[in-house]
Amino acid sequence: MNSKTILVSGGAGFIGANFVLYMLKKHPQYKIICVDALTYAGNLKTLSPVMENPNFSFFKLDITDRKGIFELFQSTKPDIVVNFAAESHVDRSIKDPEIFLKTNILGTQVLMDASREFQVERFHQISTDEVYGDLPLDKPELLFTEKTPIHTSSPYSASKAAADLLVLAYHRTFNLPVTISRCSNNYGPYHFPEKLIPLMIVNALADKALPVYGDGLNIRDWLYVEDHCLAVDLIIHHGVVGEVYNVGGNNEVSNIDIVKIILKELQKPESLIRYVKDRAGHDRRYAIDPTKIHNDLGFLPQTQFKDGIKKTIAWYLENRAWWEDILKGDYQNYFQEMYQEI
Ligand code: NAD
Ligand code: DAU
Repeated sequence: MNSKTILVSGGAGFIGANFVLYMLKKHPQYKIICVDALTYAGNLKTLSPVMENPNFSFFKLDITDRKGIFELFQSTKPDIVVNFAAESHVDRSIKDPEIFLKTNILGTQVLMDASREFQVERFHQISTDEVYGDLPLDKPELLFTEKTPIHTSSPYSASKAAADLLVLAYHRTFNLPVTISRCSNNYGPYHFPEKLIPLMIVNALADKALPVYGDGLNIRDWLYVEDHCLAVDLIIHHGVVGEVYNVGGNNEVSNIDIVKIILKELQKPESLIRYVKDRAGHDRRYAIDPTKIHNDLGFLPQTQFKDGIKKTIAWYLENRAWWEDILKGDYQNYFQEMYQEI
């Protein structure tokens, strides 16, 4: 089997780290180079099981650092680049948009410039279904296809959409061999406890209030993180250059139903639920039409939500040290500022 060198940016974050672990297991002959600035969301402990693996190397580096990135490409000569690095939390983008524009747009540009210079065979951009904006709750037949117009709601999604347009422009103008995947909400191990599912699990375990925005009826299309890794693996090996692939779980669930499932599983009372002020510009519903990736690449999610949520809760119960460490740091200040109402 051919060996490849894959540069993974953002590989110390939730999905990037799951992808690193997945790829080293699935393709033991591949070299994986992880580049991560280790922002608040990056965590080297997640990568500790592979730190000694001779086919894995880690570089603490900001993707906007042009000189550092070019030197790294020069020394490692990646065949494939997969860009997970991003500021990823919508709420933080509402409080302070600037870093989102810097990392998500300019960082992507730097990685693509290096990819051109060193002639990588594929640049894969990890995008999001949020670039399509939202769908109404009363038209369940509507789904996001790859042809749905870009129509963003938050500074986060606008920055991701800008990056997508830049990626497609680099393909058309410079012939950079790109692919893009637009995935729905991921959940699973190593998810930072500022996002809905891990936040509700850790708060419920501490008998703290569970903050539900607005009426709690907003819908997301949940995908177990390992299924996202499988989809990206298929796209970088078999996807067609210049194409966009939507990736979804066919698992639409409302926020309030998720919160109730978590409470039931942990045998905690629903009296912990607190309805709080809605998120500004809050998208109502996301739902992916996964026909293209299914027909073209044979992708089918392996984990149903009812099983994945149980596995995820079990992981948080078995890996308390991983998230308790996070809760001790700056997280306390973030939580107090963000959730003043509860
Ligand atoms: P995350 O916030 O958990 O991790 C992001 C990682 O990127 C962190 O390790 C962080 O240190 C690193 N990073 C941030 N800025 C950087 C910079 N300037 N240079 C280098 N590294 C930097 O995010 P995630 O949830 O794992 O999301 C990963 C990617 O997937 C993002 O591009 C996001 O837009 C996309 N995405 C996420 C979801 C989801 O449900 N979480 C769904 C679809 C798409
Ligand atoms: O759809 C893909 C996107 O999913 C990714 O691009 C983003 O990077 C990722 O963070 C995620 O965005 P969301 O905004 O959908 O995820 P989040 O977990 O922040 O919120 C999920 C839903 O839960 C959303 O409707 C807001 C709501 N929510 C969230 C938090 C943190 C609450 O009701 N209370 C909360 O405390």
